[in-house]
Amino acid sequence: MENAHRPAGAAATLEAAAKPAAYRELLQNLAAVLPACDHDAVAIMASAACLLREALPYASWAGFYRVVAPGLLRVGPYQGPLGCLEIPFDRGVCGAAARERRTQLVADVHAFPGHIACDAAARSELVVPVVDRAGELVAVLDLDSHEPAAFDAADRDGVEAVARLLAEHL
Ligand code: SME
Repeated sequence: MENAHRPAGAAATLEAAAKPAAYRELLQNLAAVLPACDHDAVAIMASAACLLREALPYASWAGFYRVVAPGLLRVGPYQGPLGCLEIPFDRGVCGAAARERRTQLVADVHAFPGHIACDAAARSELVVPVVDRAGELVAVLDLDSHEPAAFDAADRDGVEAVARLLAEHL
């Protein structure tokens, strides 16, 4: 499904050189809205998913999988086509990020063992662990793209900065 924010026919890309500025603006917008969320995880994640998808036209899906039980993720606020509902820590790119508590930057999802294809058109993915103020893992932040290798080091740094900002409010 096309990004509703993008005019028909517009490319789902952003010049690599434009990414740092896009993330700076995203972080400013997030910093402005998060204090009003009053530490409410749903409000925080919903606002972040919206701002991420608006800032990153190459993201076909942007949102959260929350830790709801030991070793289990369940879908949280997101923007994009219908996501899988539950992901055990031992499955998929999201599971790997949660299990290893480490960012997963996947240029080709078809080459990632155990990748879960919620959206058959997804080609690349970036997943970043999200901790709360106590340092507990509470979620992973997942970005998908229909473009191969859509995410690079600028995205990794930018989304990790987003996760650090979220951690101050969760
Ligand atoms: N592809 C993910 C599953 C979540 S969806 O992409 C929204 C994975 O392999 O963990």
